[in-house]
Parts: sequence; C-alpha cells; structure tokens
Amino acid sequence: MIETHVDLQPLNTLAIAARAEFFARVENLEQLREALQFARNRKLPILPLGGGSNIVLTGHYPGLVIHQDMRGLELERLGGATQLTAAAGENWHRLVMHTVERDLGGLENLALIPGRIGAAPIQNIGAYGVELRDTFHDLQAVHIPTGELREFSADDCRFGYRDSVFKGAARDQYIITRVRLRLPDDWRARVDYPALKQYLDEHHEGAGGLTPAEIARAVIAVRNSKLPDPQQIPNAGSFFKNPLVDAETYRRLKGEHPELVAFAVGDNWKLAAGWLIDRAGWRGRRCDGVGVHDRQALVLVNPGRGTGAQVTGLARQIADDIRTRFGVELEPEPRYYP
Ligand code: FAD
Ligand code: EPU
Repeated sequence: MIETHVDLQPLNTLAIAARAEFFARVENLEQLREALQFARNRKLPILPLGGGSNIVLTGHYPGLVIHQDMRGLELERLGGATQLTAAAGENWHRLVMHTVERDLGGLENLALIPGRIGAAPIQNIGAYGVELRDTFHDLQAVHIPTGELREFSADDCRFGYRDSVFKGAARDQYIITRVRLRLPDDWRARVDYPALKQYLDEHHEGAGGLTPAEIARAVIAVRNSKLPDPQQIPNAGSFFKNPLVDAETYRRLKGEHPELVAFAVGDNWKLAAGWLIDRAGWRGRRCDGVGVHDRQALVLVNPGRGTGAQVTGLARQIADDIRTRFGVELEPEPRYYP
C-alpha cells in the first residue's frame, strides 16, 4: 500500500515538481490507521493531502504523504434542516452542486472552490460572504499520534477568517475523516458581496426570488471571470490572506489612498490585499515562469511550472514591497511544505 518516491506534480494545483519519499492513498479508516502506524514506526512526518489546491511544495517531502480518498455522502432529513455527512475524500464543488440541484440552500456561495471536503474545515473555506462555519455541524478526525477517533463540534474547531484550531493548537495532530453540515430549511439568499450583487443586478435584475442553483451559477460566472482554472494555469487561489489592520492604520492608508478597498470588521478593518498588490503594479507581471494573475493580483500563477523556491521567492518580493509601500504585512494563505 505504501509507495516510494511518488511524483506530486499532478497532485498540487500549482504544479510544482516535487516527490514524496513515501505515499499512501487511503480509502477507509483501516488503511488510514495502517499508514499512520507505518509513519510512527519510522518516525516520519505526515502530510495529509486532499486536492493539493492550498499547498506550496518548497522541496521534496521527506515523510509520508497520506492522500485522503475516503468516499461517501449521505443526506438525511432532520426537523427543520437537511444534514449532509460527507467523507473527507469527496470533492467540495460536487457536494455543493449535489445540494443546489436538490434545491437545498446554504452552500451556493461556496461553489467552484477546488479541493476536498476534508480540507474545508482547515481554513474554514469562504467566498462571497459565506464561510464553511455557517453550515458546519461537526467533524470526525483521527488523532495522528494515537490513531484514536475524535469528534469536533463547531466550537471545538474555533473557526475564524481562513483559520481553525487545525492551524493552531491542533496543527499536524489530526486527519479529518468526515464532515457533517446542516442546511436549515429557512434558507435565505446571501447576495450582498459586491461582485456577486453587481452580477445579479446586471443579469437577473437583482436577487429577488432566485434559487440556490441560480445563485451558484452566478457565483461560478463571477469566479470564472477573474480566477484562473488551475488545469489551464497552475495556481493556488489567493496567495495571501486579506490583512486585518487597526482603525488608525486604516485611517492613515485611506488618507493616502482614497480608493483603498477595505471592509469594517468590528473595530478593525480588513484590507483587500489584491487591491494593494494591484496598486503596487504587480498585476500581470511575470518572472521566470511564475507570475501574478492578470485579472486578480492576489493570485500567483505558475504557467512555466517553476519550482517552489521560485513561487515563494516571488511571494516574498511582493510581501516586502507591500510592507515598504503601505506598512502592511501580508501572510501567505496556502501552507508551505516541508
Ligand atoms: P490541500 O491543498 O490538499 O490541503 C490544504 C491543507 O489542508 C494542507 O495543510 C493539508 O495537509 C490539510 N488537509 C487536507 N486534507 C486534510 C484532512 N483530511 N485532514 C487534515 N488535514 C487535511 N479557498 C477558499 O477558502 N475560498 C475560495 O474562494 C478559494 N478559491 C480558490 C480558487 C482556486 C482557483 C484555488 C486553486 C484555490 C482556492 N481556494 C479557496 C483554496 C483551496 O481551494 C481551499 O483551501 C481548499 O479547502 C483546499 O482543499 P484541498 O483538498 O485541495 O486541500
Ligand atoms: N482588487 C483589485 N485588484 C485586483 C484584485 C482585487 O483592485 O487585482 C479589488 C477588487 O476590485 C475588489 C477587492 O479587491 O474590490 C476584493 O477582490 P475580490 O472580490 O476578488 O476578493 P478577494 O478579497 O481578492 C477573497 C478571497 C477569495 C474569495 C473571494 C470572494 C481571501 C484571501 N480571498 O478574495 O478566496 O473567493 O474573496 O469571496 O480572503 C482563496 O482563498 O483562495 C480565494 C480565492
């Protein structure tokens, strides 16, 4: 079941060439536990891999890559909601389409996000004003050091913007095996996100009376208009998080750049990192096969299939430039390995 020196280039959407020293594709709990035992015996680090759409491989992986391929999806009617129980290896977008085709609302704004269900809680995926946590109920995960199963409630997951306990206190401790969501019957469309609202105004005369499937189609159209398809142009989506700054920093920046795009979050402000990078002149730039997408400056692209070092080198140059120009720190969104 364990393979050696496996090529990871087709398994990461940035298409970075790298190999895994050891590799296991797991389809059930028993195979997962065997793979964990193998790693424990040899004291190997573990990289749980889904669709590879939020990782940056900076070199060969000197441990065991566990490719989560557990399948299964159940829909169950509860009083007032539909419960979805999905195995970690199921494709996220397919799950979204499965729900909207049945006229179930709640996930439509999250259409077309690449990757698998098991990775969705790691950064609490979000788009167009909705996050995973809005419909999340609980998940099951295997504790890597002991192989024991554990359940996590929504509170246990400590979801935040692009954040969860799995990026903090529980980092590298668990492999998620299944996720449960609840879609309440009293669904209401959420269409305030500027780009989505504008699309609906132009194509549907507003959002009134739209079905979840119609909203999903609008989200897909908006995404296709600016985000590159990784099959055509390798990328990992937004390369940096949108930075949160205090009111004083926001006021200073807004004074210097009245067109700055920012959203209030409590007393703080979330800045559109894409706007900062665009404004600094990076949009569309290319160096050594890597570059900045020409329709969305927050997305780094790798059309020349450059190395991890080239991708992270460009990211560092951009972050340094944004710090110098605006005094703002950018933090990468995808995780670097090893
Ligand atoms: P991977 O890249 O395989 O893994 C990501 C991280 O999760 C790694 O640290 C990995 O070890 C860990 N992990 C994966 N599976 C498990 C598991 N079963 N148990 C424990 N840990 C695990 N994200 C958004 O939030 N919103 C967007 O709108 C969005 N748009 C995107 C658009 C494009 C074109 C691309 C390429 C990416 C986009 N992303 C977006 C990022 C990405 O799609 C999400 O982060 C997604 O959840 C990653 O899923 P994956 O299966 O590919 O994860
Ligand atoms: N903008 C520019 N120039 C650019 C890019 C953006 O001026 O080159 C401006 C836009 O005009 C807009 C604002 O910045 O006014 C925000 O842009 P956009 O709506 O495209 O969203 P984003 O903040 O860049 C975030 C998420 C995306 C998610 C979208 C939609 C993060 C890090 N990224 O992008 O998630 O799909 O909102 O909700 O929060 C991902 O995580 O990989 C990802 C793609």
